[in-house]
Amino acid sequence: MKDFVTEKIQSTNQKYLSRFLTEQAPAKLEKQLEEMNWTYLDMIHDREAKRGTFSPLTAMELSEVEAKKDEFYKTGLEAIKQCKVGAILLAGGQGTRLGFNKAKGMFNVGLTKELYIFEQLIANLKKVTDAAGVYVPLYIMTSEKNDTDTRAFFEEHAYFGYDKNFVKFFVQEMVPAVDFDGNVLVESEDSLAMSPNGNGGWFSSMIKAGLDQDLKAKGVEWLNVFAVDNVLQQIADPVFVGAVMESGRVSGAKVVRKADPHEKVGAMCLEDGKPSIVEYYELTDEMAEAKNPNGSLQYGFGVILNYLFRVDKLFAIADKQMPLHIVEKKVPYIDENGNAIKPETPNAFKFETLILDMVYLMDDCLPVEVDRRKEFAPIKNATGTDSVESARELLKENGIEL
Ligand code: UTP
Repeated sequence: MKDFVTEKIQSTNQKYLSRFLTEQAPAKLEKQLEEMNWTYLDMIHDREAKRGTFSPLTAMELSEVEAKKDEFYKTGLEAIKQCKVGAILLAGGQGTRLGFNKAKGMFNVGLTKELYIFEQLIANLKKVTDAAGVYVPLYIMTSEKNDTDTRAFFEEHAYFGYDKNFVKFFVQEMVPAVDFDGNVLVESEDSLAMSPNGNGGWFSSMIKAGLDQDLKAKGVEWLNVFAVDNVLQQIADPVFVGAVMESGRVSGAKVVRKADPHEKVGAMCLEDGKPSIVEYYELTDEMAEAKNPNGSLQYGFGVILNYLFRVDKLFAIADKQMPLHIVEKKVPYIDENGNAIKPETPNAFKFETLILDMVYLMDDCLPVEVDRRKEFAPIKNATGTDSVESARELLKENGIEL
């Protein structure tokens, strides 16, 4: 064991690791200890995210989009035809709320036939690539936990009709979870309890995987980043791409009108005068309910995890440290007596960076309103709000056979 790791285990009084001061640690676990960021342990005592001053930000509303739809479509489609637009599917999450033990994209939402989440997303993208007559380069972020399964699933299903030469996978980084007292958790004989480091690290993981070279070789100028769990996600949407390009801004965010002032979605705002996203739990009741003179909510546009980023600006901010979010989760572990513990309630902190913080780093952003009943059917839970049931209803409403 390297001296600095021994020193860290001692100085932070690690309950589950102290045995490795006297016995040899398995090679994998030793490497994890060497690579982990020990400064994270100090952060659990100061978990408040430091935010600036929030103020409202307006979006390009549906009526404005509608009025210039043809023009935006033409601009966006032309960029797609010239291979200037790539897409990033964020599929490294663990989907703990859904409780499905494979990659979330492998979930079957079909009723009378199979319809996998990945399949539906590819079908949504194909609408655009068929119209453009070219494939959009698609980069899929997985995690160490689901990478093999995800690749095999796409192979097995012949990429759902997409050209596999335009699909590339990359793996996001993992970080260890710690209990509420700062003890690093051990998951098995030879591994710490590692979990994906949030969806904010996607661009640095792409660079680590060497895919920045692929972007440059292909001449990709814009990246449309989207979540795996919204089955109505419109990907490389020419109208959205065109609207952002014509605005001259370096990023865009698809937004929907909040269903109610307290809906649990991040809302577009200004933070110290720059476009940003305020989490629902950061809004005071007064802010959440504040109205414009026309009766609309001041913080009324929620993000749906569909962003467009200009690639040169992504490179320019690539070295910036993103804020760290510390979240409470249920993490199984092996206790100091060797017992496997499967907690029923949250027992640990996970460390994540979030893509929504990228908007602030990009310096400017065009929020573009979309119709939530046509573009927002997230599958977060098994039942209830944002569930398989609600997504099925919305798929049917949009004419998709289940
Ligand atoms: P969520 O915030 O819903 O997280 O992810 P999750 O891990 O999938 O689900 P829960 O919270 O455990 O139920 C939003 C999007 O970000 C991706 C997810 O795959 C999803 O597309 N994501 C999340 C990653 O790619 N990596 C991560 O580390 C976390």
